[in-house]
Order: sequence, then C-alpha cells, then structure tokens
Amino acid sequence: MRGQQGGRFLRAGVVHLEFLLAHLSDPHIGPLPRIPFRKLINKRLTGALNWHGARATIHSMDVLAEIIADLARHTPDHIALTGDLVNVGYEPEFPQAMAAVRSLGDAGSVSIVPGNHDAYIRESLPAMERVFRPYMLGDGAEGPCRFPYLRRRGGVALIGVNSGVPTLPFMATGRVGEAQRAALADLLDSTRQEGLFRVVMIHHPPLKTVTRFGRNLMDQRKMAELLGRHGAELVLHGHNHRHSLAEITGPAGPVPVLGVASASAVPGTPGHLAEYHLIAINPAARTARITRRGTPRGGGPVTTLAEFTLPRTAR
Ligand SMILES: [Fe+2]
Ligand SMILES: [Fe+2]
Repeated sequence: MRGQQGGRFLRAGVVHLEFLLAHLSDPHIGPLPRIPFRKLINKRLTGALNWHGARATIHSMDVLAEIIADLARHTPDHIALTGDLVNVGYEPEFPQAMAAVRSLGDAGSVSIVPGNHDAYIRESLPAMERVFRPYMLGDGAEGPCRFPYLRRRGGVALIGVNSGVPTLPFMATGRVGEAQRAALADLLDSTRQEGLFRVVMIHHPPLKTVTRFGRNLMDQRKMAELLGRHGAELVLHGHNHRHSLAEITGPAGPVPVLGVASASAVPGTPGHLAEYHLIAINPAARTARITRRGTPRGGGPVTTLAEFTLPRTAR
C-alpha cells in the first residue's frame, strides 16, 4: 500500500493527486468445506451440487493467487472487493476466505460488500459479518455493519452498498431496499458537496442491460434512477463474471458503471477470464484511468488486457 492519501503524478506539467484503487470481485473461494447433511437445506443443496458439478472447475485458487500477487505488485492505495467471496454461505467458508483476503491487506485498506453467494441463506450474512465486519464498516463506525457505509480516502468517497439477500434455489437476484437507497441518496449528496470523487461499490449491476433473468437486482430501476438523480463519479460491481462498461446519465454528466470479471476464473473456460482493475483516480479532474489486468484467453501470466479513461464522454 502506498498510504491512504495516494501518490502524486505529473501530467502536462501540473502535479495532481492520484489515488490508485484496485477492484476485484467474485473470487468464490474454495474448496467447499464438507457440509453435514442436516445443513444441506434446499438452496444450499443445489449450490453444493453446483459447486461439485461445475464451479470447482470454473474457479481456481491458483489463478486467484496469481491475480492477488500481480495486484500487490502495483501497490494500490486501496482495494475494493465486491462480493461473492464464498460459494454457499456456509459458516466455515468465511474463515477460509479470510486467509485470501488478509493477503490483500488489512481492514483499513480493503473495503468489502457482500454478494448473493455470501447471503445465500438467512444465516449466511451474520456468519460473514462475524468474520469480515471490520472490512465492511464506515469510518469511525462501531457495532454491527450498516449499509451503505462511507470511507473517505485521499479525495475519494468509497460507498459500500449491500445488494446480497437470501433467495430461492436457482435464483441469484439482489435487492438494495428502500432504507439503503434513502441513505445512499443522502451520502451521494453530502460527499458531492465535500468535493469528493464518489465511488459506489455494489455486487449486482444497477442496470438491467448487463444481467440475465433470475440474476438481476430487483430494484435496479430505482437504483438507476437514484444514481441518475444524485450522480456518482464511478459505480463498481461484479456478479456477472464478465467485464462490462455501461453509463447512466447523471445530473452533471455520465455515471460510468464498471463491471469486473471473476478474480478466480479459469482461463479458457468459455466466456470466462480472470481479471482485476487498477483505477487511477484524479479527484480534481474527476477522471479515472482504468487498466484491466488479467489472464489472456488461452492462459499465460497476468498481463494488461486494456486501458481506457472514464468517463468516456466529458462531464
Ligand atoms: Fe459470482
Ligand atoms: Fe453474484
């Protein structure tokens, strides 16, 4: 880590403050611990079968270790991890996942929001919170996790939203809910007034265009409207295991919605590739330079897949 206030860089003879944020998601950390039969209720049974049938070969902890090692070499100021840390929300999965998360950094420099697999059944989110609570707290907050949370780092407001809710078997939907949306609107307004570069971290994409039936955010339309009304400089999400970039029209320009692929996807799996994003934020210019780092199709060492600057169109 380079320190919470970010580094400095020179562009066109002018010194700007730069804050380097790394974003990864959906590590689906395994292997799945042995689950006693009495714990295999409905949804978890289908999830466990899914793990042994497909997920175990789609995600690789060796790939995740390579992604984390490459990310560490770039010494980001902060890391955002947008959910699906585990597979079926079974309590012993969370301490196992913590071993990988600890290698990213401490709770002050890594911000986490839950995904649908972390909230698999009713007992899952409380189990996650027992292990990851310090990584999901706002600055100065005490007690249980409350979403959305706010962390201020080097001209950047990191706002963590929880879209993970327990669902029926075969469903991977999410919901933010009215209370969180109201608090999010207030946070977006107050942090804009502070002049911060607002980054919203959420597992499910807040746009229907980038997700499939049974996997979408139930209140995505309300979330998109909220972001359009209150604005944000960047929205980061996971869930689709695909890189994606979309845009919502905000009050003072576009709100880029950036999705990252899974950090543990096995290279060569159809449609899959492991990646993370390096996001060099210039809070004064309200721009972010994105570097996609990941495993090329067909395998090989982690490399730069693409580079671009957001927003695509001027604010
Ligand atoms: Fe996922
Ligand atoms: Fe997900």
